[in-house]
This record gives sequence, C-alpha cells and structure tokens, in this order.
Amino acid sequence: MKVTVVGAGAVGATCADNIARKELAEELVLLDIKEGFAEGKAQDMMQSAALLGFDTRISGSTNDYSKTAGSSVVVITSGLPRKPGMTREELIGTNAGIVKTVAENILKYSPDAVLIIISNPMDTMTYLTLQKTGIPKNRIIGMGGTLDSARFKYQLSQHLGCSPADLNALVIGGHGDTTMIPLIRFATWNSIPVTTLLTEQQQQQIVADTMVGGATLTKLIGTSAWYAPGAAGAALVESIIRDEKKLFTCCVALDGEYGQKDICLGVPVTIGKKGWEKIIPFNLNADEKALFDKSAAAVRGMNDVLKTL
Ligand code: 2OP
Repeated sequence: MKVTVVGAGAVGATCADNIARKELAEELVLLDIKEGFAEGKAQDMMQSAALLGFDTRISGSTNDYSKTAGSSVVVITSGLPRKPGMTREELIGTNAGIVKTVAENILKYSPDAVLIIISNPMDTMTYLTLQKTGIPKNRIIGMGGTLDSARFKYQLSQHLGCSPADLNALVIGGHGDTTMIPLIRFATWNSIPVTTLLTEQQQQQIVADTMVGGATLTKLIGTSAWYAPGAAGAALVESIIRDEKKLFTCCVALDGEYGQKDICLGVPVTIGKKGWEKIIPFNLNADEKALFDKSAAAVRGMNDVLKTL
C-alpha cells in the first residue's frame, strides 16, 4: 500500500510520522513545493526507523508528482496555516488555488486515490475539491470533525478526570470557531451520559473551549497546531487502509442528509477502503438542528467566495 502526504509542514510531517510509526503503508511519499524540504523531513523520519522499529519506506519529493503515482490514500495539508488572530476563513483566497492544483496533480498519477483534506478553511477546501475534480464524493473526506471531536474529548477528560480514550463524543457542523457543534447531549463516558456528571456551567465551558480549541493553540504557539491535526489525519488513513469502518465526524458532501444539499459539512460517517461509506443519522433536537442550519449557512457563505476567485 502506498500513501502520499502533500505538504511537509508541521501538520503533514506529523501525519506522515504517525503513518510510518503505525506501519500503515509500505511506501510513504512526502511532497512539498519548497526545494529539498520534503526530502529532508523524509530522511529525518527514516533515520528514526531503526530506533522506533518501523519498516515503512518514506521518501520526499520537491513537487514531482510522478513520485506519488499509485497512491491509495493522499492527505492534502498544503496551504498557509493560521497566524494568531486569524480565522481559518481568511485563508480561502490563497489556499483555494493551492488545493485545486494539488488535487489535480495528484489525480493525474493516482486516479483512484481517496483524498483526505486538511487544508483550511477545511469545509470550503473539501467542497472545492469535490467541485473541481469531479471524482466520486465518497473519495473526498474533510478531516475537521475528527480533530474537533478529539479536542472535545480532551476538554471533557479535563473536567471528568478520566481517560480521553474512554469517552464517546462528536462535534458536527463546520470546522470553524463559530460553526462547529460539540454535541454534549450525546457525549458519554463509557455509556454514562456526561450531562449527568457535569454542571450546566461546566458543560457550557467545555463546549466553548472546544470551539476555540484551534485558535487557543494558535495564540499560544504562534501558528496552527499540528500534533492533533496530524494524528487525526493518520487515524483516517488507518481506517481506510485497514478497512476498519470506524465512525468519525468528517466533512463530506451532503445530498439531503441532515436537511442540506450542495455543501460539504461535518457529520458522522463510517470510514473504510472506499473512503466515507455511510452517513449515520443523528436525532438532533430543534436547538441542535438550528445550530446545524446556521453552520451550513456560514459555510455556504464561504463557498460562495470561491465563485469570486
Ligand atoms: C486546527 O484546528 C489545523 O485547522 C486545524 O488546528
């Protein structure tokens, strides 16, 4: 199995590192536009193989897409990251051109690949990929909700004093500070509803802190986060490569599901070898439904910007 990660920046390199450590692929290609950058990172990672004991062969390429030929899964992280005070949405103009070029080049050499989109604004970049490539919708997966759900579990674990791995919790909607919807009403700690264990105030705090999870880190670090985004990308690669059919929130094309059409938005899906396989319905109450519709309206507004580029 061959996997490519496009963009050897912090998120792409962390994603590649996770893929290699788990030996999800025999061959892993890291591609970047900056001369020698991907080659350097690939060599650095390969020099950890003897210490970590993995056999994935990692190579780097400066913009030579022929090296990525025959990839089953391609993770796209290219584009500018957020700077402190910047929203993900502000990146749209620059990143749209980059993501379109990357997706087209990738598909020339790996026409059957499943594409995982991490570049921001992720919901709009996923929609753009769907529009510009015309490949079947199931092969286009936006990573946002997978990361946001992991951040939601982190916040819950801090208040509950429990292992994040013991939690079940999903964030649906857009991957934006004001568009994501942490569904606390459905969150459980090994089947125990967390709402029975947390005060109303704690619940509100957890939801609020989850929503600004990315922005908080950008302020602290000075650029976008990478450990959790990279791990989220790798978790999706794993479910595809091993055909695990695990359930994640991912940004996918909706065609009437959750009352929305002609948009890519975060909903629970199963992930297997064909990409996203099934959208799982959720019985949202009126408030949650209203939040989902509001999130869709905001993402649709961003998608409209694509028409002006
Ligand atoms: C984040 O939320 C990179 O969008 C990503 O950190």
